[in-house]
Amino acid sequence: MEISAEQILQRAVDEHSEGNLQDAERLYREILQSQPTHPDANYNLGVLAVSLNKTDEALPLFKTALEANPKMDQFWISYIDALIKEQQFGTAERMIEQAKQQGVNKGRLSPLEANLSPTAKRFSSVSINPPQELLTDLSEFFQNGQFSEAEKLAIKIIQDFPEHQIAWKALGAILGETGRKSEAMKANQTAVTLSPQDAEAHNNLGITLKGLGRLDEALASYKRAITLKPDFTQAHSNLGNTLKELRRLDEALASYKQAIALKPNYAEAHNNLGITLQELGRSDEALASYSQAIALKPNYAEAHNNLGITLKELGRLEEALVSYKQALALKADFPEAHNNLGLALQELGRFDEALAVYNQAIALKPDYAEAYVNLGFAIKNVAFNSPNPQLYPQLTQLLSAGNFTRAEDVAKSILSLLKQDAKIKDLLRMKTSAVSLNEVASVIMSLDKFSLLHHLMRVCPLPDLQFEKFFVAIRSSLLRNKDKIESSPEFIHFLSTLSIHCFTNEYIFIESQEETHLVDDLQTKISQVVARSEQPKVIDILCFASYRPLNRYDWCQKLESLKNLEEVAKRMIREPLLEKVIAKDIPVLQEISNDVSLKVKKQYEENPYPRWVKIGIPMKKRSIAAIFDELMLKLDYKGIKSVESPSILIAGCGTGQHSIETASLFLNCRVTAVDLSLASLAYALRKSNELGITNIDYLQADILHLSQMSRKFEIIESGGVLHHMEEPMTGWRVLVDILKPGGVMKVGLYSELARQDILRVRKEIAALSLGTSEAAIRKFRKSISESHDVSHQRLMTSSDFFSLSSLRDLIFHIQEHHFTVPKIKTCLDELGLEFCGFENKGVISNFREHHGNGADIYDLDLWHQYEERNPQAFVGMYQFWCQKTRT
Ligand SMILES: C[S@@+](CC[C@H](N)C(=O)[O-])C[C@H]1O[C@@H](n2cnc3c(N)ncnc32)[C@H](O)[C@@H]1O
Repeated sequence: MEISAEQILQRAVDEHSEGNLQDAERLYREILQSQPTHPDANYNLGVLAVSLNKTDEALPLFKTALEANPKMDQFWISYIDALIKEQQFGTAERMIEQAKQQGVNKGRLSPLEANLSPTAKRFSSVSINPPQELLTDLSEFFQNGQFSEAEKLAIKIIQDFPEHQIAWKALGAILGETGRKSEAMKANQTAVTLSPQDAEAHNNLGITLKGLGRLDEALASYKRAITLKPDFTQAHSNLGNTLKELRRLDEALASYKQAIALKPNYAEAHNNLGITLQELGRSDEALASYSQAIALKPNYAEAHNNLGITLKELGRLEEALVSYKQALALKADFPEAHNNLGLALQELGRFDEALAVYNQAIALKPDYAEAYVNLGFAIKNVAFNSPNPQLYPQLTQLLSAGNFTRAEDVAKSILSLLKQDAKIKDLLRMKTSAVSLNEVASVIMSLDKFSLLHHLMRVCPLPDLQFEKFFVAIRSSLLRNKDKIESSPEFIHFLSTLSIHCFTNEYIFIESQEETHLVDDLQTKISQVVARSEQPKVIDILCFASYRPLNRYDWCQKLESLKNLEEVAKRMIREPLLEKVIAKDIPVLQEISNDVSLKVKKQYEENPYPRWVKIGIPMKKRSIAAIFDELMLKLDYKGIKSVESPSILIAGCGTGQHSIETASLFLNCRVTAVDLSLASLAYALRKSNELGITNIDYLQADILHLSQMSRKFEIIESGGVLHHMEEPMTGWRVLVDILKPGGVMKVGLYSELARQDILRVRKEIAALSLGTSEAAIRKFRKSISESHDVSHQRLMTSSDFFSLSSLRDLIFHIQEHHFTVPKIKTCLDELGLEFCGFENKGVISNFREHHGNGADIYDLDLWHQYEERNPQAFVGMYQFWCQKTRT
């Protein structure tokens, strides 16, 4: 089949733009053999000649192209430009006149005319390239980091010499340095087009493409650079970096090794080789590569940091510390090294020091998510005994930005820090009866400076009775004096915080009868004002909101006076009302009928639990294998580890903390989350939507009915749920039935030993026939907080003591069963489940301390012995994994 000239032309153009100039030229000439005046072939051949600085050869080609097709403006422009470059000024002037008559765009001709001015001619007669001084200046500006001057000069040169490739290359580099990646890429592309044989230009283009995440195109550019210049070490190394990013680790290794073979003292390539080896799990070789990089370049901070990472991975923590410190001595503003140092210190149990370095990492890089997560982890383990206000800004950020940590987990430590502050110490010493408005005013002014405390109060209950007593007194004084309060910004700010706090702890603070009356009166007053289509005073609303949830009252939606208090309106009105709407659309599996389930449902409809604001969402999703390996699960059927898209059931998901964490942890997972309580599910769904989590399906269902879903799951998690059923084994059996063979289950159950105090308190509550109204719970709580009984005292150390739903869950539950390790062992046997290990790493390391490092952590008899000696070991719950081994 004969190939047409147009097809050949297309191939020629492709080769041309790929930079394959010889092939392009051969193809253009092939066309000219049969069609000597072919305009495009002549023109493109001319362009090709110009790019190789052979303008003289281009002239006849442009001329033929023009004669064949004088309608193409570009043909005129290129021909005239070539004439000027060849200093054929007379012909150029004549051609400009002809071009004008032909109707060529004047705007395009005028720069050429400018080049024919006497000065320009003189300049051209010296050289067709920019004067060397300009290029030297450009290079100096760039080297000295004077990017703005360099950019201006590069643009000026490009205006005068649009085809001068070096200026385009320089512009690409400048734009790249100043972060304008897309513009840099365009400049680099022009440089490549102007000089397709320039390997460096291709390498530069590769760098900008990689910066834009266009990794495959970057690869092509680096490969082109290497074809043009096989000993181009930097291009080999860059190719390696891109391959590494594409997870083509073996190929990346080969590229780095090639770079090193060409330039054995190339420290960066040794360092990158080390990173790749480390990622391939070849830690010993990685160590050797980093050491080589450091030997070649002793002040190479990144290589010291990487060496530290590998040493830590190998468990050589003290040496890792030395490496990180060395990296920081060389480069103090190195946030990653601070963060890594923190991790090593943390692993050595040196949490206070870890805190300080995470703090520095965040100060250097305020959006450093990983450092926040680590800061959250470290602070949980610290009780402060001296002031440290330097930590306040970062801890405030930790609580306000993102979901890096569960606020309740860090609250105790943060309060212990605040309590070391001299100002707070003074405030807490204040008498708490009959506090005057003046005293309150001065407290509020002082507290206004403690942004950390304000933030903490807005995201979780304060687990501290001293603070509680203080705020109860202030709240009472504000209520009594509300008509005398002048509405200053500080008062509004404080009352907003206090009301959000009380809403968050579900109004657990005790209130006197006098307060109850005043609150009732205030409610009447506000509703009457609204009924008159007037607006209540903001102070009145906030005082009221510190005692009652606004969303309970019909008038709440008419409160325009809250327009400027966005968080108050959102948290206390819009969100709870939205949950009511959401609840209507949650699918229902089957009507709940079991008596106990109905009672449990009622409890969680009234008090969904836990009412969380911030949790620690895993930073990145991981495979089942990675997660189970880290948890050290002993699996009889290892096949579960290779499931790529697990389907997961959360049985009793509560308010979504559990489902959201799991859905954000397992790679490619789809989660079905069920619960009895619609209010809890609505809370969970609202939070999931807010966080943009889309892989959870919520469903109202009793565990007892789940077989009706006709679905099976690879993973089932049920934490703190089965022990609230009438017969936990019946529920557990349903879950085992819908677990796939080889599937795994995480279960959380109450420990009888750990809950001895709670059992005693539950008996007291039963004997008093207290009921479960909010007032009854508050009153009983007050009696406990004033008691000297040891069980009561211990109860107060639980963070569940500080909000209404958690306290109700802790001691007022309608139904609960308790387990022991032998009992769990029997249940597992009956259900055909194998024990895979406990979840809590802290408990496992204590177990090892107790029984010795070689002890079998999967031996439940040993665990029973351990728990009998350490009855508080499972104070939260037993949280363990098990696998279905029978079909
Ligand atoms: C203590 S909360 C735990 C929530 C969640 N697993 C967590 O850890 O955050 C217990 C939850 O189990 C739910 N629940 C109790 N019995 C249930 C049953 N039979 N079927 C479904 N959910 C149940 C309750 O409604 C409640 O939301």
